[in-house]
Amino acid sequence: MAKKRVLLLGSTGSIGESTDQVVQSLAGELDLVGLAAHSSWERLLEQIRIHSPEAVALVNPEAAGKLRESLASGKDDSLRSPKIYEGEEGLVELVRETEADVLVAAISGAAGLPANIAALETGKDLALANKESLVMSGSILTRLARDKDLRILPVDSEHSAIFQSLQGSSLEEVERIILTASGGPFRQTSAEELKDVTRQDALNHPTWEMGEKITIDSATLMNKALEIIEARWLFDLPPEQIEVVVHPQSIIHSLVEYRDGSTICQLGPPDMRVPIQYALTYPRRLPLPVERVSLAELGQLTFESPDTVRFPALRLAYEVLEQGGTAATVFNASNEIAVSSFLKEEIPFLGILKVVETCLKQHNAVDNPDLESIFAADEWARLETEKILRLECKESA
Ligand SMILES: NC(=O)c1ccc[n+]([C@@H]2O[C@H](COP(=O)([O-])OP(=O)(O)OC[C@H]3O[C@@H](n4cnc5c(N)ncnc54)[C@H](OP(=O)(O)O)[C@@H]3O)[C@@H](O)[C@H]2O)c1
Repeated sequence: MAKKRVLLLGSTGSIGESTDQVVQSLAGELDLVGLAAHSSWERLLEQIRIHSPEAVALVNPEAAGKLRESLASGKDDSLRSPKIYEGEEGLVELVRETEADVLVAAISGAAGLPANIAALETGKDLALANKESLVMSGSILTRLARDKDLRILPVDSEHSAIFQSLQGSSLEEVERIILTASGGPFRQTSAEELKDVTRQDALNHPTWEMGEKITIDSATLMNKALEIIEARWLFDLPPEQIEVVVHPQSIIHSLVEYRDGSTICQLGPPDMRVPIQYALTYPRRLPLPVERVSLAELGQLTFESPDTVRFPALRLAYEVLEQGGTAATVFNASNEIAVSSFLKEEIPFLGILKVVETCLKQHNAVDNPDLESIFAADEWARLETEKILRLECKESA
């Protein structure tokens, strides 16, 4: 059987590195034909040495220059030099011009959207980690996949768990899906204490090791809010059939409750290689050397309802779905700006959702948006959030 050709965007990040490991452990099955990152050219060079891809892209032109220089310097004589693309346009060209069966979308944030669209337009399945792109333009990506008879395979562990629990059943048989949430580092932190938590506290996730943006999103529960919207599009379910339960051990990755009263779930170690490999080898299950779950050693698994007062993100997700149109685009873009401001220690932790909610209130959602309206709403939300942040800073000065 021919190897599956994989194009990996965001190869130097947390999901990218886990994908790299999966591909290396399934070298007879998978071939990395293209890689892309933003600036991490030195790590990309190491990955080029391992995988010898046909083409790579770096969004930062300076970094692309350094990669070219290093490859041309002769130190890597034995290496087949890949074609090197640069800039945002280069990233999309890489996707359009490289033949592949599946694109692993592991860029963080809205920046991943144009490449994901290009992948579907050029006939590639999407193994989707980049939930933000589906949140901001769910109707467009899912329509494109349907029209082209392509798959959007979930990489997010919760959505992979739902996808796995749905095998052999049909959506009409589903009563509800239940996404599990670890609850993040502040699950037991009081509303009063949340006022003073620091960047460092928020980056200290109890069960998962991830990139900075998603780690902050997990602390605010914005990650779960984005996942509710992601689930709405991936499984074509209305919001009232999507629920969240807090499960601090992150062993049950999500559940499907069927109309006959049975609930089916997927358990596994908190290791992203499991859902990544499933997305890349679906519907087959191949060996993977990850830790096994020992229920006897764990002793107990616990569950609780999420607190939507301390963590308003979940409430906002349902409001955004109710509003429809470009509301989710604004929700996502405003959060990206607010998180980046928190990471620069310009606003307090509780400021993130406050700013996002203010921005949402000021938005007049456009129904059935086309791509142009989506990009316009994304840009509007970024500028509006910057404005709100400047006002916040002035008031607190
Ligand atoms: N980490 C997880 O466990 C996890 C779980 C579920 C879903 N996800 C989702 O997966 C995506 C990636 O998360 P992550 O934790 O892997 O993030 P990450 O560690 O921050 O990595 C991000 C990757 O994207 C590249 N990148 C960043 N901005 C870019 C841009 N503007 N253009 C092109 N490339 C860019 C980075 O390149 P440089 O290294 O050059 O900056 C890096 O390779 C996110 O959407 C996240 O929500 C992650």
